[in-house]
Amino acid sequence: MSISVPEQASASEPTQTQAQARHTEPTAAGMAMANELAEQTRDQVDRVEAPPRRARPWQRYLEANLGLREYWYPAALSDALPEGGTHAVTMLGEEILLVRKNGKLYAVEDRCAHRGTRFSERPLVLSEDTITCWYHTWTFDMENGDLRCILNEPESALVGRTGVRAYPIVEAKGLLFVYIGDEEPPPLEADVPGSFLAADTVMHYAQPDIIRANWRLALENSFDPGHHFIHNWSPYVIESGFPMTFGYVAKKGEEAGETTYVVDAPGPKGFSRCTATAELIFSAVIPGKDGRPDTTYTAPAAVGKSREELISSFLAMPPIEVGIWLPSCNETVNFPSDMITFDWLVPIDENHTRSFMFGAKPCATEEEAEAWRGETGHTEWYVPTVEKFLIDDNKARESMQTFYEKENGWDRERLYRPDLEITMFRKFFSEHARDIQTPDKLIKPRSRRNPTRGRS
Ligand code: FES
Ligand SMILES: [Fe+2]
Repeated sequence: MSISVPEQASASEPTQTQAQARHTEPTAAGMAMANELAEQTRDQVDRVEAPPRRARPWQRYLEANLGLREYWYPAALSDALPEGGTHAVTMLGEEILLVRKNGKLYAVEDRCAHRGTRFSERPLVLSEDTITCWYHTWTFDMENGDLRCILNEPESALVGRTGVRAYPIVEAKGLLFVYIGDEEPPPLEADVPGSFLAADTVMHYAQPDIIRANWRLALENSFDPGHHFIHNWSPYVIESGFPMTFGYVAKKGEEAGETTYVVDAPGPKGFSRCTATAELIFSAVIPGKDGRPDTTYTAPAAVGKSREELISSFLAMPPIEVGIWLPSCNETVNFPSDMITFDWLVPIDENHTRSFMFGAKPCATEEEAEAWRGETGHTEWYVPTVEKFLIDDNKARESMQTFYEKENGWDRERLYRPDLEITMFRKFFSEHARDIQTPDKLIKPRSRRNPTRGRS
């Protein structure tokens, strides 16, 4: 059944003010890249025939079930790891134990090199910088992972000759970042948006959430131009009268113009797209068949309002901008008002994703900052965004999982024009990801970063 669109309303050209208000300024190189990606993937959307079973132009993306490798990822909130404490986390398929001891942070593989016991089941931090396995006393240096000693076999020739993986770990803005990879890590700023790390940005934290979906389904949802239809039922939209549309779909032929890619700046690579020139569709006609009448369907928030009213209230808002930054950070600017939402979608395994959500706001005074961390941030960001909006995104993300996990969805999906922004990202990812995480890397010997040889 097709949906035809009556009296389709288009937003007017963005005003000078809207263009200036952009968070990420488009550059000539960024726009050229967007055009190129659109051209390279345009034949993947609106195919009348099912696509042939052949390699897609984003083959590397398809192989990245477990995420990207050689990147900094959020592992846990700082609050989850108090002084003297430990915290176990699974990310990108790797089980890792985080430790904070005497003010220092450590991250080690949560597997004993002797016979694979998990340290986290009875963590024994018996000196300032070692973890001892509770099974047979093997004791490891938490900084480099080396076997430091064995308490019940002090003369062992294995000491210093084997070990567990140790991961670089840093703390910023109330978040613990772990580097997953084998090479020397770049500075954190290479993988984390500058707007997140900015000195005057204050965070309101949500507790991390687990989404039962692969990380790519979760990430794609966060910038999918056609997905806003689901938010017509989001409690925030219903309660506030927000002029929600059927999607923020670019005008035909202007899909690349909505988007600017960033590859040559010091921060993370990715893209930013703006809603300023989106089509604004608030109602559509479902044609009747066999002579029966057509049905006009109007978005719930639009019922009883004129199109002019809806368009002018949409255009009165600062343009919403969505950025996607490698490895998997979604940054949304100006929703629901002048603040930034970060949603880091970190693969746990192939079928689960941990979502770290923050509401960020620049604060000029400590008083403002205190309010944002507390009640103001809760009321203005957490409730409308996390409680009353993102719940619908998570429902949609989880709803697709079976198709992609068990029914060959990556081959069987049939994409339409608004998906062009998704195909562009997949192609971009395939070309620019430093490395991808694969199951064989979970069990390979320790990295060259460690001074001693690996376990196997
Ligand atoms: S399994 Fe850890 S010491 Fe034996
Ligand atoms: Fe959404």
